[in-house]
Amino acid sequence: MNKAKRKAIIAGNWKMNKTATEAAALIGELVPSVKGAGCEVVICTPFTSLCKAVELCRGTNIHVGAENVHFEKSGAFTGEISAGMLVDLGVEYVIVGHSERRQYFAETDETVNKRAKAALAAGLKVIVCVGVTEELVRMQTKIALQGVSAEEMQRVVIAYEPVWAIGTGRTATSEQAQEVCAAIRKVVGELYGQAVAEATTVQYGGSMNAANADELLEKPDVDGGLIGGASLKADAFGAIVAAASK
Ligand code: PGA
Repeated sequence: MNKAKRKAIIAGNWKMNKTATEAAALIGELVPSVKGAGCEVVICTPFTSLCKAVELCRGTNIHVGAENVHFEKSGAFTGEISAGMLVDLGVEYVIVGHSERRQYFAETDETVNKRAKAALAAGLKVIVCVGVTEELVRMQTKIALQGVSAEEMQRVVIAYEPVWAIGTGRTATSEQAQEVCAAIRKVVGELYGQAVAEATTVQYGGSMNAANADELLEKPDVDGGLIGGASLKADAFGAIVAAASK
């Protein structure tokens, strides 16, 4: 597999952290810290910070994403946000199927698939999260991509996030991350063929930090990271971006 064929992407997942005011301050620190990065840099913020983030990241190398999206275009879905609403704000990415959504908000493989398709149809780039065992990861990947075209796969990133590594400080070994990221690429290959598999960015997520990023990112099938805790500190996030830029 040729790593040069795909984009390394480091995406911050801020989760339910930072008010819009605090977000503005963090972005102010992030802009200089990731300037000139050799990888794609994304920050996924709470809905309430997206407007500010889009405004402050305009003209920089930071791309802005949301952390979730509803699959319907509009209607009686109190509290939900549609893909069209995100696009209208200037948002470029969205995370779907994060394990916290699956665990606390009744997200299923089917709704992950519906959200991914709705987001792609609206023109967003999608970071699909899958996790747990290799067998489950294969199944989650297949279901999440049902009905997604090969052309749309250019806007799909898959993040392997073992649940036990999220927010625990316990990271997968680089060998484990490599093995599962390679398995995900294999599934993409079975569904779309070799060329799409080689072009698809597969990230690792789960306690990635400045100290372990190098080792994880140097693996041939680990094309980037989805970063929770360490994305809330400009220096730590900057160091991970630097590791992915090598
Ligand atoms: P963590 O979170 O980096 O804090 O483990 C990763 C994630 O949940 O995306």
